[in-house]
Amino acid sequence: MNCALIMAGGKGERFWPYSTDEKPKQFINLFGEKTMIQQTVDRLDGFLPIENIFIVTGEKYVNLVKKQLPNLPEKNIIVEPEGRNTAPCIALSAFYIKKIYGNVNLAVFPADHLVRDVEVFRKTLSLSFEFVEAKEDVIVTLGIKPDRPETGYGYIKFLGEDVKINESILKVERFVEKPDKLTAERYVNEGKYLWNAGIFVWKIDTILKNTKEFLPNTYGILKNVFDKKDLYEELKIAYKKVDKISVDFGIMEHAKNIYVIPVDFGWDDVGSWIAVERYSEKDEDGNVISQNIHYFDSKRNIVKSKKKTILNGVNDLVVIETDEYLIVSHKDSISKIKDIKNKIE
Ligand code: GDD
Ligand code: MG
Repeated sequence: MNCALIMAGGKGERFWPYSTDEKPKQFINLFGEKTMIQQTVDRLDGFLPIENIFIVTGEKYVNLVKKQLPNLPEKNIIVEPEGRNTAPCIALSAFYIKKIYGNVNLAVFPADHLVRDVEVFRKTLSLSFEFVEAKEDVIVTLGIKPDRPETGYGYIKFLGEDVKINESILKVERFVEKPDKLTAERYVNEGKYLWNAGIFVWKIDTILKNTKEFLPNTYGILKNVFDKKDLYEELKIAYKKVDKISVDFGIMEHAKNIYVIPVDFGWDDVGSWIAVERYSEKDEDGNVISQNIHYFDSKRNIVKSKKKTILNGVNDLVVIETDEYLIVSHKDSISKIKDIKNKIE
């Protein structure tokens, strides 16, 4: 059996004030009307039955998940008492799903990425599930050809020469999470590294085995919780003691038997308004199109507002309207908003 796990408990305020700690990126709409998590589920809907799609998220986001995904069965929401990064959230989910369905194949996804070619995405998933089903104790990652020395990603070094995009399954020599700039530059120049897309396909028992080996403390704590009856009350206390670490640093950098499929399905982790602009529909002057936004004599603007908004004679602006804020920024300065937030709050 094949299942999916969508990790939707991350914070991140890169799109502040459009996204906030109360409503992080996965719960906002950056492209069209649907939110990132709704688009993530839509991508899998029809490919997997909805009963096989699980969401793991923090207690404080459960209501948002229910509201945005009304068709998701309640048992498919896995609740963490608090966010302690991705390694414990995946381990917790593995124990939880194993109790319901046993040692299934599980594809783990971020909740806030863009995938433009859904057909190719699904083909790659099918290939990954087949490989995991046949080989059992393996971890399949999906690799993106890097085009810059990005330091916010994981790098996957593959073995062998024959890189057939969307077809080959290559053995991984090593996985390096978020290298520094110089190292990232070297990796990109070497041509033997791919970016980790943040998607992992493995069997539940492989997740548990690797957690046991590399994060024994977390494994022991969670196993103990699942051996008991009053799961959530136990978990609330125990979860405070699990290792606060990402699956990339905690497991992928140490695990053996990792494979990578080089993919090209229009992937982006959408880390900035510039990325939103890149993938949005634009008018002939390069303005991001939205029903209620009207542009006159204006070029290359990005506007997010529920109000009827008019831009007249202005270029290269990011305009964001929320209940609390109105931000008007030059595109070149938008990355400074994070610092500005800290100054004014
Ligand atoms: N449930 C839950 N609990 N989800 C979490 C938690 C948590 O404590 N922390 C993060 N997440 C979710 C986020 O919401 C996101 O969907 C996903 O897990 C990945 O977390 P990020 O915090 O966005 O990771 P990253 O972007 O720094 O790095 C990862 O993604 C890169 C690609 O975008 C790594 O896997 C990198 O190796 C990879 O290149
Ligand atoms: Mg991310």
